[in-house]
Amino acid sequence: MTYKKSIILMLMTTTLSESQMNIPPGMIDLGAGNPPFSLLPIDLLKTAAEACFSKNNPAFLQYGAEQGDGRFRLGLADFLTHGYGFPVDAEHLFVTNGISNALDLICALFTRTGDTIFVEEPSYFLALRIFADHGLKIVSIDTDEDGLVIDSLEEKLREHKPKLLYVIPTHQNPSGHTLTEERRAQLAELAREHDFLILADEVYHFLSYDIQPPKSFSAWTENKHVFSLGSFSKILAPGLRLGWVQAHPDMIKKLAGCGLLDSGGGLNPFTSAVVHHVIESGGLAQNIAKLNDIYKSKLSVTNSALEKYLPQTTWASPQGGYFFWVRLPDGMDAAELQRKATDFKVGFRPGVRFSSRDGLHDYIRLSFVFYEPVEIEEGIVRLKRCMEQG
Ligand SMILES: Cc1ncc(COP(=O)(O)O)c(C=O)c1O
Repeated sequence: MTYKKSIILMLMTTTLSESQMNIPPGMIDLGAGNPPFSLLPIDLLKTAAEACFSKNNPAFLQYGAEQGDGRFRLGLADFLTHGYGFPVDAEHLFVTNGISNALDLICALFTRTGDTIFVEEPSYFLALRIFADHGLKIVSIDTDEDGLVIDSLEEKLREHKPKLLYVIPTHQNPSGHTLTEERRAQLAELAREHDFLILADEVYHFLSYDIQPPKSFSAWTENKHVFSLGSFSKILAPGLRLGWVQAHPDMIKKLAGCGLLDSGGGLNPFTSAVVHHVIESGGLAQNIAKLNDIYKSKLSVTNSALEKYLPQTTWASPQGGYFFWVRLPDGMDAAELQRKATDFKVGFRPGVRFSSRDGLHDYIRLSFVFYEPVEIEEGIVRLKRCMEQG
């Protein structure tokens, strides 16, 4: 076979996907939990990458320090100190490939197959997959509009001895709820008392539009049972694959001392150097302010469209993050609605995917960040038509 023919054959047999997104043309997929392409800060990152390459110091192309590049961690600590309003020490930070990677690594290092993890009901469905990959037994805890319910947690603690508890404290995925500061403190205390580790996934902490969020779990990391996990995916770009863990230095040592890093070096030194420049230039803070402005107005458009076109559904307007968590009327089944919705060229995520108890069948998750306001409204109109069809 000629070279040209083999290339043509390869093009025919391979999906040359450029991103994780796979939305058919004409479809409005309100399930998409990604930032819009138009808000991926290409110029900011181009300038930062050029600055790295022009320095004539190729250290960022070398195997990296296990805990993550020291200068980057100093810059990140400074950014977090300003963002949280209390000091964050660079020695308490560990660089990751994002929160998904942090969850996977912590499961690998701190659990064995068959161990129990507590999660919220509902919870981020793809994190549940990571826990399943590690053979963990998933037990879900009730939540309300203030996040995880402490009474429900205490009840489960009488029945189980969890190794981990996974919580999304601020603008939760999918519910949009935020855990109160009082409950955060109670949770940290219970973790110490019952010797389990809290994995606080703070991916939406800096995407707060209407409230100053309660203190990040960063504030409780003097407690060796608390890991605060952060990410640049939603505040810069997911393709960077960059995030961090903040924890007590003894716990950071355990992470940095693992075989993965011994062999491969610290995670993502190249991207860390680029993002370090973005932080130092003030570009990160500006990007977050820009995202918050745009997302706040998209949130408001979604709220109005729901009020106008789907008044029979129930939801609480989120105060940040990415998602509306909408309850369908009269116990309508979201999975069935989803099958019909394809014909109306509209998509969403059915609630059952976020349940660890095969529940929440009458909920749907709608993302309000990926599309432009007119598309959001059109998507909700399509959803209305689909629901009316019965
Ligand atoms: C709650 C939550 N955690 C983690 C992630 C993924 O984070 P990362 O890109 O840092 O792996 C997402 C992405 O949608 C998310 O919603």
